[in-house]
Amino acid sequence: MALHTFDGIIVGAGGAGLMAALQASRPDSSGKSPRIAVLSKLYPTRSHTGTAQGGIGAALGNLEDDKWEWHMFDTVKGGDYLVDQDAAEIMCREAVETVYELEHMGLPFSRTPDGKIAQRPFGGHTREFGKGPVRRSCYAADRTGHMILQTLYQQCIKQGVTFFDEYHVVDLLMKEGVTCGVAAFQIATGELHTFHSKAVLFATGGCGRMYKITSNALTLTGDGMAVVYRRGIPLQDMEFFQFHPTGIYKMGILITEAARGEGGILRNRSGERFMERYAPTLKDLAPRDMVSRAIYREVQEGRGIDGKDYVLLDLTHLDAKVIHAKLPDITDFVETYLGIDPVKQPIPIQPTAHYAMGGIPTDSDARVIVDERRSVLPGLYAAGECACVSVHGGNRLGTNSLVDIIVFGRRGGRALREYAMRAPLTSLPADPEGVTKERIARLRQGKGSETVAKIRSELQAEMMEKASVFRTKENLEQMLGIIRGLKDRYTKVRLQDTGTIFNTELLDAFELDYLLDLAQVTVTGALNRTESRGAHSREDFPKRDDANWLKHTLAYRKGDQVELKYKPVSITRFQPQERKY
Ligand code: FUM
Repeated sequence: MALHTFDGIIVGAGGAGLMAALQASRPDSSGKSPRIAVLSKLYPTRSHTGTAQGGIGAALGNLEDDKWEWHMFDTVKGGDYLVDQDAAEIMCREAVETVYELEHMGLPFSRTPDGKIAQRPFGGHTREFGKGPVRRSCYAADRTGHMILQTLYQQCIKQGVTFFDEYHVVDLLMKEGVTCGVAAFQIATGELHTFHSKAVLFATGGCGRMYKITSNALTLTGDGMAVVYRRGIPLQDMEFFQFHPTGIYKMGILITEAARGEGGILRNRSGERFMERYAPTLKDLAPRDMVSRAIYREVQEGRGIDGKDYVLLDLTHLDAKVIHAKLPDITDFVETYLGIDPVKQPIPIQPTAHYAMGGIPTDSDARVIVDERRSVLPGLYAAGECACVSVHGGNRLGTNSLVDIIVFGRRGGRALREYAMRAPLTSLPADPEGVTKERIARLRQGKGSETVAKIRSELQAEMMEKASVFRTKENLEQMLGIIRGLKDRYTKVRLQDTGTIFNTELLDAFELDYLLDLAQVTVTGALNRTESRGAHSREDFPKRDDANWLKHTLAYRKGDQVELKYKPVSITRFQPQERKY
């Protein structure tokens, strides 16, 4: 057994993981710091944060008046009042100082003519509690996530953080209810490694790969969520899955909302700016759940382009210089994948699976909560998309994922550091790699005729059909049956590659196992929630039902089944209102 001992382990090297690592490993005045390692199944700068495009929201007020209270109101209303308002207050207040902290680390933001951080409008972000759009998104062209990732990685290297690149974490180790490390396999060699530590912070991102059309990279398979779920920790609000309105048609590749922030317009087959009918004040800059539903409606009612399932994002009326200076990456994507110059031709788009609002429940210091009484599991933390604080409620506003990873990555790193400095190292359980060895042996010795690729593509196609923007009881029940069938077939998977060196098929098999669990949790939660709220839209229950459903879902693994419990939403400043834009 390869054994490593650290004070803290961070799993995942996107923005949340790197920010947490930076904070957790900071030396004190005597130069003493906890020993922290970051484990990532990727080379860190390939993490998915690098694909975030349009900006990070913070009420800097560089171009017009703005206040963190307005940002908080927009976040709560955008989330259809399922947001925990104490956490949203922390996020929107601290967004301002963390953006300046990134600037001081050297992040190359785009600039206003007088040298301040440039800001632009984004969906659902308003001035004066909903009066009209506000320029709040701080951006670096349409490469904001890329710049955040590079900046944080450079800072981690400068500070001497230890990295284990291309290590796939497959189990959480606990003894008597206390965290004591993780088990991982090194992708290059197939060798198992035990990481013994006082604390673990998961920052492994989302699970968009359960859907066929998605903006998510191949790696977004919900590993961290599923690993903790298998250890008896619940997942929160997983039925809320965001579809970003503008993915490239049939491919799902993200076309940033900043394209609409810069003046882009959505048009149906008759050229109509249809969002005027759905959201008269914010129009194309309404929150994502509303815009995605509007696109689906246009298509259902025959107003998709050529009667097909897409509409157009029109930038042709914008100054070519604006497109080239502020949206260079999407221009490049559209040229590469569609052969279209967006200066001259509108872009075919359809909603694309983008973001899990749910995840591992945490408090505002990223400490993992294990029940509806908010009990904390000592030494376990989660931040970023894999976590659910919950600042996004039923529907996240654009730009708030980058705020979330930076603010709660930072708070989580600090909390982990404080814990790791004082807590003892809990001894390892007997045979810490036992569960993992058994799983690998089962997959390697599989004698059936099923393949990972086949099961995965069926899961993705069916989820897209039955559990995406609109849902019904009938579809969700069917989907649960399909997932049960796919899980059964998974036990008959036979790997073609039985070797150890860079066995990506083995990696795929682990990831599929996770996706199947997470799809089951998503669909079970969605079936039980008999209302429509945020991104969870039930055609058979079209109204929000605060009397019965203003509560968070907690999903526990009970053998093959999912057990659901509920806990209250924290409401501090803003009482639920009708959501008009
Ligand atoms: O549209 C975008 O640029 C995506 C931003 C986000 O998901 O926050």
